[in-house]
Amino acid sequence: MSQPAQISVANRLPFCELHVHIEGTLEPPTIFALARAKGMALPYDSEAELSDAYQFTDLQSFLNLYYANLQVLQTEDDFYELAASYLRRAHVGGVAHAEMFVDPQAHSKRGISAATVLGGLQRAITAVSRETGITSSIIVCVLRDDPVEDAERMLDSVLESGFAVTGLGLDSAEVGYPPSLFKGVFDKARAAGLRLVAHAGEEGPAEYVWQALDTLGVERIDHGNRALEDPALVTRLANDHIPLTMCPFSNVRLRVIRELSDFPLRKALDAGLQITINSDDPAYFGGYLDDNLRALASTFSLTHEDCAELARNSVKASFMSAAERQRLEC
Ligand code: ADE
Ligand code: ZN
Repeated sequence: MSQPAQISVANRLPFCELHVHIEGTLEPPTIFALARAKGMALPYDSEAELSDAYQFTDLQSFLNLYYANLQVLQTEDDFYELAASYLRRAHVGGVAHAEMFVDPQAHSKRGISAATVLGGLQRAITAVSRETGITSSIIVCVLRDDPVEDAERMLDSVLESGFAVTGLGLDSAEVGYPPSLFKGVFDKARAAGLRLVAHAGEEGPAEYVWQALDTLGVERIDHGNRALEDPALVTRLANDHIPLTMCPFSNVRLRVIRELSDFPLRKALDAGLQITINSDDPAYFGGYLDDNLRALASTFSLTHEDCAELARNSVKASFMSAAERQRLEC
């Protein structure tokens, strides 16, 4: 009989986290500490009251709170502390490499430059790598529910900042904002040497996943749950080895699925899809990558080999160099 899975620090498989929004790692105690330090008023009397508000009915109900809370992030040091805390926590949970999403437009609209945001993140990447060995890179995301010109300005400001960025992504409210709107921005990013990803098929239809692949030319799909409704799309994703960065706790908390046992893990693996497991916005959805993996292992009775397959998928799907990937192969 195969061994039951143990996701623990002692039995560490080399996982990469490829779908985590750094602003979604902002924990309630940090929100209160930053607000207090800056003399900002919050519409909650306590951390417990804020946490109690984390009851979401859909993606938009979550985004409303996510964008409100991130306003406490203002200085380069705030972004440094945010990313350093996440990277230390990820390391303890067995993450060897993280590709962190950030939303520069959510900050530039408050007068905070891309250089301030990226400077803080880059400093944390360097410091925590020295401390723990975890490696990390940055993927800047377009807010798809803001005008296309804002996305163009964001990309220009990131490129002009001179900070190293691995890729461009697409996030925020999905339905009504098809990927094809952003073809020009993604073409420009590709020409600048950035790797491309997009959220698609979280709430939006399978058609948005087709557009992300065929119009934007992305290399990974973030979420992609609704791709499973379209057999021709499943065949395309499997044949072209397009990874899906899936997020079980997020899917439950945003009601993409009813409960964890509905997460399409077996369906996706049996269809030959290269799926990876990620935390999305761990401060909001009940846990980090290791928490997601432990819950999946228990719900789906995952074997050690099942977990090793998920770890291998995450290494293969990462944007690390071939040499860096080799270090983590299991
Ligand atoms: N921004 C932060 N989390 C997100 C998610 N799950 N989907 C789309 N945009 C996001
Ligand atoms: Zn996401």
